[in-house]
Amino acid sequence: MEKTMQLTLKVWRQKDATSDGSFEEYQLDNISEGSSFLEMMDILSEKLVAEGREPVAFDHDCREGICGMCSMTIDGIPHGPENATTTCQLHMRHFHDGQTITIEPWRAKPFPVVKDLVVDRSAFDRIIQSGGFITGRAGSAVDANAIPIEKQTADHAMDAAACIGCGACVAVCPNASAMLFTSAKLTHMNSLPQGRAEKDRRTLAMVSTMDGEGFGGCTNTGECQAVCPKSISLDMIAQLNRDYTVAQTKNFFQPVL
Ligand code: FES
Repeated sequence: MEKTMQLTLKVWRQKDATSDGSFEEYQLDNISEGSSFLEMMDILSEKLVAEGREPVAFDHDCREGICGMCSMTIDGIPHGPENATTTCQLHMRHFHDGQTITIEPWRAKPFPVVKDLVVDRSAFDRIIQSGGFITGRAGSAVDANAIPIEKQTADHAMDAAACIGCGACVAVCPNASAMLFTSAKLTHMNSLPQGRAEKDRRTLAMVSTMDGEGFGGCTNTGECQAVCPKSISLDMIAQLNRDYTVAQTKNFFQPVL
């Protein structure tokens, strides 16, 4: 028989971007261990609405670990206690009856709180806009093997492309660095022949935008890799640093139009 649990939730409530926020405490009974974390949050919101109170605002979309929207810090860890797992894929069986769970939004200056647990991550969009594209004609889909690519290279690019842009790497970093995210976005394009034409310009532009958005520098604490739900490796940051050094050396910079 499926077990149920009683929980105490300490949830960050904040009316809007300019208001001060604070934790509010809620009790939930009969939460099934088979529920997902977001289903548990839905039950909380239904309870609050039934009591005539404001439900908790939180981001979510796919609930399948694909979109990167479900940004919550659970007991101090972005996406909670399970390795390589987004909040939406986290299940209540990883918690225990009587547990107190603290739930906060991402804490980073470039991700201002919009309301409760929702933060504005458009800084990530602007990093991608500054260089995350190729200028070659894409046309219609070509045969998968039209451009031969070594398996090792293709795998490396695919590993980088697994980044869902959730921002957990920034939220956990003491410097609020976006190096893991930016390096993943750069690596998946810089590694492939289709993306090499703009490699230097892309690298300089995306790093420049990242710095301009107020993200901090990387000091190799490695926490980003530890909490990344897609297991993006610090190797990507090493590649970014190599690509950046080469691009700077070539003094290649031209503004991306
Ligand atoms: S809701 Fe899409 S990754 Fe969690």
